Amino acid sequence: MKSDFSLNGLKSVASAAIVATCLALPTLEAAAGEAEAAPLSDRELARGRILFLQCRACHAVPGDEGERTGPALHGIFGQEAAAAAGFRGYSEALRTSGIVWDTELMDRWLRDPARLVPGNTMAYAGIADDQSRDLLIRYLEVITEAE
Ligand code: HEC
Repeated sequence: MKSDFSLNGLKSVASAAIVATCLALPTLEAAAGEAEAAPLSDRELARGRILFLQCRACHAVPGDEGERTGPALHGIFGQEAAAAAGFRGYSEALRTSGIVWDTELMDRWLRDPARLVPGNTMAYAGIADDQSRDLLIRYLEVITEAE
């Protein structure tokens, strides 16, 4: 009987934790949606790092060495498109796009690059999942600014 009690105790602790997590989720999402300033948790940083691996094959960020297929993304937010110093591989399409990168345009670019800038030469289909894109952009905001 005694062990039944403690098992029940454990179960209610576990369900309390699940309920608490579910209650906290909408709050987290609201916070993520409203502010660029919302800091990333360790878990989000880890997830962002994984999402960015595919980009990093072609793009350097501060701290990376060496030439890549794509332009470096240092300080990309607030910068005009096709302005990375020393990168000569830009397409005419991106050079004449008139884009100044902010989070909204970055979101549209990463959802479907060919739709935002037809004729661009980034060989990347896009990320359909809204949450992954959102997290990747918040991660980008952090790492493209780092020294
Ligand atoms: C296969 C290589 C490749 C991959 C993978 C790739 N890119 Fe690119 N990216 C490029 C190239 C090449 C360009 C330049 C495109 C052009 O000039 O039309 C570019 C352009 C960009 C630009 C515009 C840069 C500027 O100076 O205006 C951003 C932002 C960008 N990529 C972000 C990303 C992100 C984030 C990912 C990962 C989700 C990614 N890219 C994946 C090759 C790649």
